Amino acid sequence: MNLTEFSKSAGAAVGMDVDTLVIRGGKPLQGRITMKGAKNLVTKAMVASLLADSPSELRSVPQISDVRVVQGLLELHGVTVDRDGDTLRFDPSNVRTAHETSINAHAGSSRIPILFCGPLLHQLGEAFIPDLGGCHIGDRPIDFHLEVLRNFGAVVEKLPSGIRMSAPNGLHGAKIALPYPSVGATEQVLLGAVRAKGRTELTNAAVEPEILDLIAILQKMGAEIQVDTDRTIRIEGVDKLVGYRHTALFDRNEAASWACAALATGGDVFLEGARQPEMTTFLNVYRKAGGAFEIEDDGIRFWHPGGDLKPVVVETDVHPGFMTDWQQPLVVALTKATGISIVHETVYEQRFGFTEALVEMGAQIQIHTDCLGSHACRFGARNYQHSAVIAGPVELHGADVTVPDLRGGFSHLVAALTADGTSRISNVGIIARGYERFIEKLTTLGADFDVEG
Ligand code: EPU
Repeated sequence: MNLTEFSKSAGAAVGMDVDTLVIRGGKPLQGRITMKGAKNLVTKAMVASLLADSPSELRSVPQISDVRVVQGLLELHGVTVDRDGDTLRFDPSNVRTAHETSINAHAGSSRIPILFCGPLLHQLGEAFIPDLGGCHIGDRPIDFHLEVLRNFGAVVEKLPSGIRMSAPNGLHGAKIALPYPSVGATEQVLLGAVRAKGRTELTNAAVEPEILDLIAILQKMGAEIQVDTDRTIRIEGVDKLVGYRHTALFDRNEAASWACAALATGGDVFLEGARQPEMTTFLNVYRKAGGAFEIEDDGIRFWHPGGDLKPVVVETDVHPGFMTDWQQPLVVALTKATGISIVHETVYEQRFGFTEALVEMGAQIQIHTDCLGSHACRFGARNYQHSAVIAGPVELHGADVTVPDLRGGFSHLVAALTADGTSRISNVGIIARGYERFIEKLTTLGADFDVEG
C-alpha cells in the first residue's frame, strides 16, 4: 500500500472521505473539545480481550482507524465485536484460525498485529501476522518482539507474506532482558506471559502510563503482575483469564497535540478528559515555552497568555521523559519562540521528516546528526539526523503539503493554522489513524478551512 492508498483506507475506516484540507491560517483556536481513550492503550486492550474465556467491555474507545484495523483482525479470528457509542464489547468464545489471505488484507495498516501473537498462540497454538505498517518514522524493526516470542518457546517462521508462528506445546515463562525499553516489546511480554506456564521476569521494561493501564486490565482479568521500582516486571502465569470491564486512560498524545495547537495559534482550548499526572513532563515544557495551563477536575485548559514565547531545549525519551509523540506539534509552536530551541529525538532515529514541510512554509529549522542534548543517545554514533535546531520567531506562510505520518501530519495542520495565507494539506486520512473526529474538532475550535474529497 502506498502512502495515498494508506491515507484513503485510514480515512474510509472511520467514514471520512476527505483527502485534503484547505486551511486559511491566522485564527486562534478557541473552545472546548473532549479527549477519549488513548490509541496506544485501547488497541492493546482490544488484543487482551482475546486472552479471556468470557466477554470484555472497553469504554471511552475513540473512532480512529487503528481501532477499526484491530477490530477487523479480532473479527477475522472469530471474536464478536459490538459497539455501543464509545463502548466496545468483545466476545472471544469462538476464537478460530483466520485465513492468511484475509489477514493479509490488513498488511501495512498498523503495527498492532504483532501483539496478536501471544494471545493467538495461547488460544490456538498458532498465529500468522501480515507485513506490519504504522508510521514511517525509521526502520521500526520487530527483532525484540520475535526474540521475546522465541524465549517463550514459539517457533517463528518468516515468509515473504508475513510471519507464521506455532507453539504446539504451549508457551512457557522466561527471563527476558530488553536491549531498549520498547513499549511494544514490553506489551508483547505481558500479553504472552500472563498465560504462559511458570514465571517471567522482564528487565529494562517500558513503564509508560498506557502500559500500566494495560497491566491494570490484565490484573482485572486475573493475571498476576508485579512492577518493581527498577522497571523489572514479574509475571506469574495463570491457566485461565476472564473478561474485563475498563474505561481507557485518556489520550495524552492527542491532548499534547491540541495544547500545542492552542499555543502556536495564540489560542485558548479546554481539553475535557485530559489529566495532569500523565502529562507532568509535557506541562513543564509547555510552561517553560511560555504557555499557560490550568488543571480542573474534568480536564485541562491550555492557552497562550500573550507576550513572547520562549525557546526550550527538549530531549524525547521513554517515560517519564518527554514523549517522542509530543515533539512534532511542539516544534511548530517553537517556530514562534524568540531564540534558538533544540529538540533531541532519542526514541526514533528518523522522526524529523515532517520538518521539511515546515521549512517550505518558512520555518528556520536545521536537522543535525549530533546529539544536541544533555546526553549522547544511541543514534549519535550512527549518523542519524535526529537533532533539530529551531530559530524563531518566524511568520509561517501557506504551502501545499502532503501528510507523511500521523504526528507529523498533525503538526502540518497546526503550521497551516498559524500561517499567513492558504495551505492545502493532502493525505489527511492518515491523521484519522490517531485523532478522533479531528475535522469536527477543528470546526468546534473555530478553524477557517474547507474540505476536499
Ligand atoms: N525497537 C527495536 N526493535 C523492536 C521494537 C522496537 O529496535 O523489536 C526500537 C524502535 O525502532 C524504536 C524504539 O525501539 O527506535 C522504541 O520503539 P517502541 O517499541 O517503544 O515503540 P512502539 O511500541 O513501536 C509505541 C507507540 C508509538 C510511540 C512509541 C514510543 C503504539 C502503537 N505505538 O510504538 O506511537 O511513539 O511506542 O512511546 O503504541 C504514535 O502514536 O504516533 C506512535 C508512533
